[in-house]
Order: sequence, then structure tokens, then C-alpha cells
Amino acid sequence: MSKPNVVITRRVPRPGLERVQEACNVHLWDSDEPIPRATLLEWVKGIDGLYCLLTERIDDELLDAAGPNLKVVSTISVGYDHIDVPACLRRGVAVGNTPGVLTDTTADLAVALLLATARRIPESIDAIRRGEWTTWKPEWMAGQDVYGSTVGIVGFGRIGYAVAKRLRGFDCRILYFDPFPNQKLADEVGAIYSPLDDLLAASDFVTLHTALTPETRHLMNAAAFAKMKPTAILINTSRGGVVDQDALYQALTTGQILAAGLDVTVPEPLPVDHPLLKLPNCVVLPHIASASVATRAKMAVIAAENLIAGVEGRPLPCPVTA
Ligand code: GLV
Repeated sequence: MSKPNVVITRRVPRPGLERVQEACNVHLWDSDEPIPRATLLEWVKGIDGLYCLLTERIDDELLDAAGPNLKVVSTISVGYDHIDVPACLRRGVAVGNTPGVLTDTTADLAVALLLATARRIPESIDAIRRGEWTTWKPEWMAGQDVYGSTVGIVGFGRIGYAVAKRLRGFDCRILYFDPFPNQKLADEVGAIYSPLDDLLAASDFVTLHTALTPETRHLMNAAAFAKMKPTAILINTSRGGVVDQDALYQALTTGQILAAGLDVTVPEPLPVDHPLLKLPNCVVLPHIASASVATRAKMAVIAAENLIAGVEGRPLPCPVTA
């Protein structure tokens, strides 16, 4: 029996690639740079399965180009806002993602970014490199304490919970907001439910862990920043679209909030001349929250298992259902 035909849209960690190659004929875009859209639309014609990244838009145009053989779209990411899931499901195309395995790695990075932003670590490193470390100065590079602070977690799913668990070790008071509060889970980490406006007003740090949906797009807008403390710090490791970046720039430059740490932006990559990159109180990372060698390998394998199950007509190990 001939093997199913699949496209992999980027170089992916070897364990995932090898797993797919055992079961499928693979057309691999063997590069770290994105496959051009026109090439992708050409390559997907008649395929059985697509293994994609969060940088590819999976919409009606692509599904039309692929045609009726397509059985599965498997993304090597937990987020799936780049995929028109209803359009896939309507056509009987299964969708898979990689939840669970990246929770702790992502939570580690969220806390690292929070600490780096609060304690002005990137700014300090830059200052040393510019030769500005002239002596020990009592107020130079003084930042905000994380220990004992109030941290507001917006979106209390797996990653929000894992961040709370870590911050307990810093004796933080943890507030959380989620449209579907899970107090039993929250009790395990001593997190207290708070309506969003109250959370924004009370928190020293607001950290975002929500999916990007029509409801959460620009959740952090001018009105939200106006509710925050002037000493507050925003951390975003979810999706750039959850933050209105123009409003954030205003809030950071007018002293409405103190600083921001962003692992995600709009667009990605953020152009090097973007105004946010000029601000010393804005720490920007290149969307690396799940980027540990081990976790990226696990994600690659789960995406492979989803793909193979889909092309073989079996239930996906990690399906996206809505
Ligand atoms: C990364 O952002 C992911 O969704 O896995």
C-alpha cells in the first residue's frame, strides 16, 4: 500500500521528522524560514496531511487548494488561532495541536521574563556593554521586587496555573481572572479569583495566558492600562493580538504603567525600527516561550503523531475540537 502524502512546512526537530518519514511520503520545506504562501498553495494540492507551524494561515483558500484528500492539519504549537478550525471541521479535516508538553517550559519563560523586566536585566546588560558601569550606585538600575508582590494571572489554564505554582515560591499573592473560573485548581496554588478590572487595579504584575479569540483580541487596551498601577508591569507570553500595542506604547511612554515584557507581538517578527524596541522599559523576546530543546522535540513528536493518526483515519491523540 502506498504511503500517504504529507507536507511539512519547515525544518522541525528530527524526532518528529523521522516519525513522519516512517509513515508518510514527506515533502519538506527544508528551511528555517517560512515557505512562501504561493509555494505552499502549490505543494498542498492533493495531499493527505499537512504539518504546519503557527506562522502559516490555514484558511478556506488553503483548504480549497489542498482539495478533498486532505484529512488532517497538525500544528506544532498549542495555539491554533492561525487555523480556521470551523472551516477544517466542516470539511471533515481533523485538527491537532500540542498541549501539555510545553506548559512548564512556557511557564519558566514567563517567570524569567517577569524577573528580567522587573529587575531591568536586559537594560543592565546593555548598559555594561555601552561602558556605563562606572561604579556601584545606590539607585542605578533599581527595579521592582517580585517577592511579596501581587500578580494577576489573566487566563487560568494549564500555563496560568503553572506560573502561579512557580510564583508561590516568591511569596506572591496570586489573583486570577478566567471566564471559566476553576477554584478547585486555583486553591491548589492559593490563587484568588478576581474580576478583570479589580485584578488590573490591584496587581503589581499582570501576566497574560489566554488564547487569542475574538473576545480576547486587544483585551489589554487603553481602558485596561488606565486601570493599572503606575508601577505595574505587563507580561505577555500568550499572543501579541491580546495587547493593543499602540495603547501599550502610550501607557509605557506616559508613565501609565512602568514596564512590559513581551514574548509575543504583532507582527512577528517585530520590525527592528518598531517604536516598542526603542523603549528601555519594554523587554521583547522573539516568541521563545516553549523553546527548550527537549520541549520542542516533544512538540515535534506530538505533531507527528497527530498527523499520522489523521492520515490513517484514527482519532488524533491531541485533537482541537472547536
Ligand atoms: C506557541 O506559541 C504555541 O502556541 O505553541
